Amino acid sequence: MENNENQVVIAMPRIGDKAPSFKAVTTQGPINFPEDYKGSWVILFSHPADFTPVCTSEFMTFASMEEKFAKANCKLVGLSVDGLYSHIAWLRTIKEKIEYKGMKNVEVNFPLIEDITMEVAKKYGMMMPGESNTKAVRAVFFVDPKGIIRAIIYYPLSLGRNFDELYRAVVAMQAADAFSIATPADWRPGDDVIVPTAGSCGVAKERMENKEGIKCYDWFFCTKQISKEAIEKEILKK
Ligand code: BEZ
Repeated sequence: MENNENQVVIAMPRIGDKAPSFKAVTTQGPINFPEDYKGSWVILFSHPADFTPVCTSEFMTFASMEEKFAKANCKLVGLSVDGLYSHIAWLRTIKEKIEYKGMKNVEVNFPLIEDITMEVAKKYGMMMPGESNTKAVRAVFFVDPKGIIRAIIYYPLSLGRNFDELYRAVVAMQAADAFSIATPADWRPGDDVIVPTAGSCGVAKERMENKEGIKCYDWFFCTKQISKEAIEKEILKK
């Protein structure tokens, strides 16, 4: 597809879109995405290349946190435009040889997609020619249990991701769904959450008078407390 200036326009999935479907070969066998993940949150993420240092640090970190994500009903799926045998050899090297920041013997048990044709990477807008023609950037797609893309993060090749932030985002989005709230800057479970803006002057006035345990900074900015235990009970319940 081209725009008015004859530039090639690359279609990229957006927040709120159904996650584009694909079938792929992975280190854990074939997958049918997102259908195989119905009922779970899933993080589909790309890395530039196997046998590279930033990616190795990322995989060791993510694999070490896999159980924590699983408890929050969130599965992990990696992708690079390398082939299956490269993936297998790299993951074996990580397990057998690499000791990094107290992590060793790290087994990557989540699927890593081989995408030598770049079909999936292109479908998900993971190829960014201004950054690299041959490697996917560090893309992260958060897909909800209904197969809808709920958040997207992109990082360049040189910048390793913050996996605590990915976990925080999954928990925050689940909390927003479960409690019909929004989460403020840097929110963590136990911090105050944001209640939807009042639909009428009467409700806004009541809120400003600090009824129902709601604290208002102004009519459009009201918060309430939800305990860390209540959030964890809801999100870590499975
Ligand atoms: C890395 O993972 O270290 C890396 C990969 C591609 C380009 C630059 C760094």
